[in-house]
Amino acid sequence: MTTSTTLRTHLCGELNASHVGAKVTLAGWVSRRREHGDKLAFIDLRDFSGVTQCVIDDGADARSEWVVQITGTVTARPAGTVNTNLPTGEVELTDCTLTVLNSAEPPPFPIDQRADDVDENIRLKFRYLDVRRERMQRNLRLRASVNSAIRTAMENQGFVEVETPLLMPSTPEGAREFLVPSRKEPGSFYALPQSPQLWKQLLMVAGMDRYYQIARCLRDEDLRADRQYEFTQLDAEMSFVDKEDVLSAISQAVLAAAHAATGVTPPPIEQITWHDAMNRFGSDKPDLRFGLELVELTAVFAATEFKAFATAGSIKGLCVDAATYPEAAAMGRNKLDQLTDRAKQSGAKGLVWMKVGDGGALESPVAKFLSDAEKSALVATLGATTGDLLLLVADEWSTTCSVLGTLRNDIARPPVHEGPYRYVWVVDFPLFVGVNPTTKKPQPGHHPFCHPHPDDLAKMETDPLNVRALAYDLVLNGWELGSGSIRIHEPELQRRVFQLLGIDDETADRKFGFFLQPFKYGAPPHGGFAFGIDRLVAILAGEENIREVIAFPKTQSGLDPMTNAPGPVEANQLLELGLRTLPKPAN
Ligand code: AMO
Ligand code: AMP
Repeated sequence: MTTSTTLRTHLCGELNASHVGAKVTLAGWVSRRREHGDKLAFIDLRDFSGVTQCVIDDGADARSEWVVQITGTVTARPAGTVNTNLPTGEVELTDCTLTVLNSAEPPPFPIDQRADDVDENIRLKFRYLDVRRERMQRNLRLRASVNSAIRTAMENQGFVEVETPLLMPSTPEGAREFLVPSRKEPGSFYALPQSPQLWKQLLMVAGMDRYYQIARCLRDEDLRADRQYEFTQLDAEMSFVDKEDVLSAISQAVLAAAHAATGVTPPPIEQITWHDAMNRFGSDKPDLRFGLELVELTAVFAATEFKAFATAGSIKGLCVDAATYPEAAAMGRNKLDQLTDRAKQSGAKGLVWMKVGDGGALESPVAKFLSDAEKSALVATLGATTGDLLLLVADEWSTTCSVLGTLRNDIARPPVHEGPYRYVWVVDFPLFVGVNPTTKKPQPGHHPFCHPHPDDLAKMETDPLNVRALAYDLVLNGWELGSGSIRIHEPELQRRVFQLLGIDDETADRKFGFFLQPFKYGAPPHGGFAFGIDRLVAILAGEENIREVIAFPKTQSGLDPMTNAPGPVEANQLLELGLRTLPKPAN
């Protein structure tokens, strides 16, 4: 990599003992200036690559964040002044001439790690200064190398990069869309893409065979640590494939990205079915970095007299083992009450807790309702020993699982970037999730174009909620990285799914005609996937929030404090678009 230019011979982070004696020119920002008496000063000169200490002895004026060029001689630092924490710490520049390229106002916060503690609104208001810092430089450069590794991995597998439109019709993908008013057709709107889903499937009909794109997507959803309005996906679609082909292709891109970021290629990504993920971890985003698995207890209480358990379809428990989770296992009454509230907020009717005493004796407000046989079977099934805390929920299966999954995470889940990287494919998601309360029809789990599992086609009409889809997610440390599916390419099957959803032919044609029409002209079997690059990079960069790996993100409330977007526009712009705004609704 050549980084020398007309204005510099080397980078500020590049010099070491091997350069001693060389005359060099550096250019960058004054990171720190320390006065050492009459005219003598030490300037730490910074660019993206690091800092070099420069000894200035002519009293040149150059203050914090001024842009300067310094020519000097690389000199070994005197004994006792070597800084082993700094890659350039063995040397300094002496006999310096300093040229001011630009002066600067004092920055609103220090351009170093101390800015981590500055209010995020201020960091974002001055994002161009925030990005000057090492942390943001590292994150954005890491992101670039992840993108580059992904491109190479996709291209090596024959994927072709195709750009798809940003202005498109509204599509039924689930999230709220950003709309763009049309000037030529007042009252009509484009939608910005939630994802290139529509286009990539059309590219398969169009015979592109393997498409990929590092695609910007836009969704008007509430923002969180792992959600922005604008985000980036690795989006891919392939023809003549089954699920395993898709998982294998995407795995290669993810593993290449991980290697680029960490220098280590993770082991092949394991698979777990959605049903097992729910059953064992109580989540479709299982965090495999820790145990604390859900244990099946329905049989233990098959003949119980305890009312809360007697009629429940599914009873499961967690054994919070005192050796692994000493603090949680020893939690007091107050904490247990909070945990019970949390279980109820998550949909449970209640939470049974029990403390295991000596000899397997159970201390619990409900212990008196259980028979001795039930108590000993419970201890044996959970493998509980003295000091452990047992947490039990009884409900219908999915509630039992999800409530205990929430408690499992609350009790034991480390921050997303800590510890090992545990990638997992969650496969065989259900085709439908629950029933729409108004239409009484099943609701699609992902979107209505996912292919049902071929083994379950026969029960589509009779037992729709137990039909699996050829749909899969990629999960890393409990975060959903991405989703995909094999798509329906047969018009007849698509009609059948629409019918189940309560969408008749006419409605389907009206709403999705532009999408369904092309499938009449020879759609190959196809499937694909998309994963969130922001999320992957955040975890690989050791960040908790995707904003830290996006150059210019929005705040949690969806604003850009730097440009003040969103803002009002001129009246004539609205007029041109045929729009009039209503007064802000009162809160
Ligand atoms: P899905 O909607 O699951 O699938 O999105 C795929 C991945 O995109 C990322 N993602 C986001 N990242 C940041 N901010 C957001 N607001 C946001 N929303 C989604 C997540 C998510 O897992 N077209 C389908 C894929 C397919 O079927 O091929 C799709 O977009 O990491
Ligand atoms: P109750 O009979 O409703 O007073 O509940 C007795 C105890 O059992 C309380 O500690 C409840 O939190 C708990 N409990 C009630 N229903 C359930 C349930 N479905 N699953 C787990 N615990 C429950």
